[in-house]
Amino acid sequence: MKLSMIVAMSANNVIGVANQLPWHLPKDLKHFKKHTINKPIIMGRNTFDSIGRALPERDNIVLSRTQQLSHDQIFLANNKSDALRMAEDFAKSRGSEEIMIVGGEQIYRMFFDDVSRIYVTLVDLIIDGDAFFPVIDYKIWTSVDHSERMTANELEYKFVTLEKLS
Ligand SMILES: NC(=O)c1ccc[n+]([C@@H]2O[C@H](COP(=O)([O-])OP(=O)(O)OC[C@H]3O[C@@H](n4cnc5c(N)ncnc54)[C@H](OP(=O)(O)O)[C@@H]3O)[C@@H](O)[C@H]2O)c1
Repeated sequence: MKLSMIVAMSANNVIGVANQLPWHLPKDLKHFKKHTINKPIIMGRNTFDSIGRALPERDNIVLSRTQQLSHDQIFLANNKSDALRMAEDFAKSRGSEEIMIVGGEQIYRMFFDDVSRIYVTLVDLIIDGDAFFPVIDYKIWTSVDHSERMTANELEYKFVTLEKLS
């Protein structure tokens, strides 16, 4: 089973501010959907609060130590191993071969050493924020695919797929 991350980050690794995305990039949301649809997704409780709803056509697994989430389309996990076990079961029943870690900072850090692929949206911007993606070591990670540079709302960005070198 492949374990992958998907993230959009600024040039200084910012992924969020005040529990929101720092940008509005409609094509990035489509890119996120393309890579998560029909797969289990694992997220932290803050990210779930930020999205505010379960994402359709995906198994939404939310990590929380404290919350009793009663949302009927959410699967609550109290720890990492439970989250992974649930995701593997969901992936098998869907016939999916990839589990997606979708943030935020705490959850990316928790799984960073376990993933072998990262779908990164690199936003060409230096900004202040309060949530960050771990530093990517390009001696360990290599680009296997990338898009053209695109522009939206005066921001330049591109999609890059990274694979961990074995
Ligand atoms: N740019 C992007 O691609 C992207 C993607 C996703 C999120 N984000 C941003 O990231 C930010 C949120 O990140 P964050 O670090 O604040 O929060 P987060 O990682 O989304 O969630 C943190 C929460 O997860 C739970 N948790 C953490 N470790 C756990 C463990 N070992 N076992 C069980 N539960 C655990 C805790 O929930 P409880 O407090 O309920 O116990 C914790 O408060 C927001 O700004 C969001 O917009 C950006």
